[in-house]
Amino acid sequence: MSSQDTLESALGDLERLESEGLAALGAADSPEAVEAARIEYLGQKSGRLKAAQERLRTLEPSGKRAYGQRFNGVKQALEAALEEARTRLERRAVAADALDVTLPGSRPRLGHRHPLTQTADELIDLFGRFGFSVARGPEVEDTRHNFDALNIPPVHPARDPLDNFYLSESTMLRSQTSTVQIRVMEAQPPPVRVIAIGRVYRPDTVDATHSFMFHQVEGLMVDRGVTMADLKTVLRLFARSYLGQDVKIRFRPSFFPFTEPSVEVDMLWHGGDRWVEMGGAGMVDPNVLRAVGYDPEEVTGFAFGLGIERLCMRRHGIDDIRLLYQGDVRFLEQF
Ligand code: DAH
Repeated sequence: MSSQDTLESALGDLERLESEGLAALGAADSPEAVEAARIEYLGQKSGRLKAAQERLRTLEPSGKRAYGQRFNGVKQALEAALEEARTRLERRAVAADALDVTLPGSRPRLGHRHPLTQTADELIDLFGRFGFSVARGPEVEDTRHNFDALNIPPVHPARDPLDNFYLSESTMLRSQTSTVQIRVMEAQPPPVRVIAIGRVYRPDTVDATHSFMFHQVEGLMVDRGVTMADLKTVLRLFARSYLGQDVKIRFRPSFFPFTEPSVEVDMLWHGGDRWVEMGGAGMVDPNVLRAVGYDPEEVTGFAFGLGIERLCMRRHGIDDIRLLYQGDVRFLEQF
């Protein structure tokens, strides 16, 4: 009877040893806690498993087999739980380090220049080959550079507040890059051969061909003996380089206050049958030359202003100007 009790209580103790050991190892949250649980349960000298093993000797021979089997099961379960606890902590340490140099890297997505910037860069390059350097002017401009010095008198309709973004009575967002002509000539004596590229602003309602902001390229050449023939040559050379040898350009008589005579420039390309207006041009008005202190008896000049969006759209077959401003990668990555 008494040996029966002993086997039963020994098996009960094994049961408790297993469940307590599994719980301790499962809850161990640091290398120290795992090590403490290992010593308590699996320690070679005085671990609880070791004690359970020694208990085998005290059992009646008839109970040894059953106890031995159960003991082996408990031992395996605890050893497996110890292994698991160690792997768990190791994984967490790697995750905390967060850098596994053996993993494949994630490539950053590379962008490229916006089609308008590409067009502008190409214009700088092309006109650079004809000897034009690049000038800049401010987008917040005064009315003298935007109007007065360009021979646009105070009563001119182009100055209407409904057609301009005024910031005060005498300052505004520039409505044209022709302002840079004045700034360049004020800053240096002739000869001049520059282009200026930049944004201009007009309160137009946005649609497929209009925007309250767009870009222009302005050209100015002033020297002794510059004529309309020079203007036509430069624009024709530019058109051929930018759009192809088969492009045709045509000049229509027009009027701008700052040129006399004035023309509008159209281009026809790739055998098309539609002339597309590229911008305005003409011989610099003597009043403009006088306004910057040049002598119109000494020097003459030509000027032109072309829309960059239009050039870019024609070149790439883009039919809605808004696409150029939306920053949609699906559109932009095509260029
Ligand atoms: N500034 C004019 C515009 O915005 C374009 C222009 C016409 C520029 C004639 C010029 C020019 O330099 O000579 O519509």
